[in-house]
Amino acid sequence: MAQIKSLGYNVEVGKKCFSKISSFMTKHTYSSYTILCDENTLQHCLPHLITSCPDMGGAQIIEIESGETSKSLEICNHIWQTLIENNADRKSLLINLGGGVVSDLGGFCASVYKRGIDFINIPTSLLAMADASIGGKTGINLSLFKNSIGTFTQPKAVFVNPLFLQSLPQKHFENGLAEIYKIALVADASLWQELKTQKHEKNIEALINKSIGLKNKIVLKDPYDGTQRKILNFGHTIGHALETQALGTTNEILHGEAVIMGMIIESHIAYQKKILPKSDFTEISTELSKRITYNAPKIVIPKLLELIKNDKKSTHKKVQFSLVNKIGSCLYNVEVSETQISKALAFYANIVHVRN
Ligand SMILES: NC(=O)c1ccc[n+]([C@@H]2O[C@H](COP(=O)([O-])OP(=O)(O)OC[C@H]3O[C@@H](n4cnc5c(N)ncnc54)[C@H](O)[C@@H]3O)[C@@H](O)[C@H]2O)c1
Repeated sequence: MAQIKSLGYNVEVGKKCFSKISSFMTKHTYSSYTILCDENTLQHCLPHLITSCPDMGGAQIIEIESGETSKSLEICNHIWQTLIENNADRKSLLINLGGGVVSDLGGFCASVYKRGIDFINIPTSLLAMADASIGGKTGINLSLFKNSIGTFTQPKAVFVNPLFLQSLPQKHFENGLAEIYKIALVADASLWQELKTQKHEKNIEALINKSIGLKNKIVLKDPYDGTQRKILNFGHTIGHALETQALGTTNEILHGEAVIMGMIIESHIAYQKKILPKSDFTEISTELSKRITYNAPKIVIPKLLELIKNDKKSTHKKVQFSLVNKIGSCLYNVEVSETQISKALAFYANIVHVRN
């Protein structure tokens, strides 16, 4: 079992990490517990959690519908209403049992309910274990704009039990790998080599540990995304635009799928700007293209350009990118022109065309 120290809380990782939940509960005397989950984590994860931690048996349960569309003000309203009806006071604890949707949404609801109550994350998807459950970014979408409303609020603890991955559908496993590829590209060339050559499933606990450790190091230096933490946005400026373009259509894409495409396209921008050597660009695009196992969405350049301009990382009407300058290293606040973005999108549209 591993323990990683973050901003005032610990991340416990391992198949036996639930033994630590009881001591956490004893240490903090909460007036009530509420578990937030979706229909899948209710079915596959909640029974295991309650068996391992009988203290949780008396918790109130709030179930939301799985999927990105639950990260909305309407669902927040439902959560706050239920907390009020259940008399949850300022000493209540919210337990986010689920993937990144549950931890983003639950973290946000907790961070403003009664001016803030404590919450812990028990991530159940690979993406949430390796990335979303740590670092303190909470948030929901505002109509079509991803993560436009949110707070920086740290959880009180995070318990990462890889056993939950046994019930995770394969496509969501692939989805989670995307963020591990990203952290490797921006911060650790040796992890990138490992990802290229090793069987991910067999090695998953070690990969999760490395991913959390790398992200945590960056977050500790820059908790509020003012400087270095921005490198974690590599692949996300384009990725969010692709995800938004597909939201509400019959061809929705998962966050991780969008990030894989985003990383290929943004690496092309870095190559065009002569930031990234050609050999690294070829290696990145070849390796990541292998991970596209789904129906890639149609690239509609004008629509994507419009969405990119609205990206929340843009300031003073300038679009700022985080771009890898070699495998394992990344620059941030790089200004990119519309022409460069369009060229990279066209390059990718061509790959998709050839593949489909
Ligand atoms: N806050 C952050 O730092 C951060 C970082 C990266 C991504 N995110 C956010 O995370 C979200 C994506 O997270 P996600 O991919 O985990 O999505 P998700 O929460 O929708 O989970 C994916 C699917 O897997 C199911 N599931 C989860 N665990 C399961 C299990 N153990 N067994 C069976 N089914 C299970 C869920 O019900 C859902 O259907 C996005 O909204 C993204 O914006 C946040």
